[in-house]
Amino acid sequence: MATLAQNHEEIAARELKPELLEMDGISRASVEAHYKLYQGYVAKRNEILGKLAEVDLSTANQVYSDVRALKIDLTFAIGGVKNHEIYFEHLGGHGGDPSGIFGDLVKRDFGTVADWKADLKATGMGGRGWAWTAYDWDEGRLFNYIGDAQNSFPVWNATPLVALDVYEHAYFIDFGTDRAAYIDAFFNNLDYDVVSDWAQRYGVRP
Ligand SMILES: [Fe+2]
Repeated sequence: MATLAQNHEEIAARELKPELLEMDGISRASVEAHYKLYQGYVAKRNEILGKLAEVDLSTANQVYSDVRALKIDLTFAIGGVKNHEIYFEHLGGHGGDPSGIFGDLVKRDFGTVADWKADLKATGMGGRGWAWTAYDWDEGRLFNYIGDAQNSFPVWNATPLVALDVYEHAYFIDFGTDRAAYIDAFFNNLDYDVVSDWAQRYGVRP
């Protein structure tokens, strides 16, 4: 039987850092509920790869519509995994002004930290699900890119360094409909050392 994705391995959800349960403005209840959603994306990713491995390509053409649905769902699930792994990993800090490599990049590409924050906040207010600060390897600079869902709209050859979740599930417990206040809290809890470590590890040079 000709099948797809035979060699996949299951992944497990990453542990939640203890600092995430003691943030300023973003509550433990909110983080715990949010973490369950992330676990759901991990489970979905594993499940879809398992289903792809069972698709029998020797059957009727209708199989391609199944492949289409599974492949699209896979981008959503894997997007959900990656976006949330960035989100949880770089929260739990104390905000302030970014230092290190990321601070240098922000100042070079946006002028000031305030300008970068204003741009990312506006992007997050306009997006339906995500706003990312990504290093674009072709442009050689940071951009704040917009996302509506877990799988829209990634840009090729750009590496996200900051992932701002603006889905309502990220803030309605703590802020109701006040997304702007949540975004301010997000900045106040960012760990810029983590972000600069990523930039260093990826080889980004200001
Ligand atoms: Fe989320």
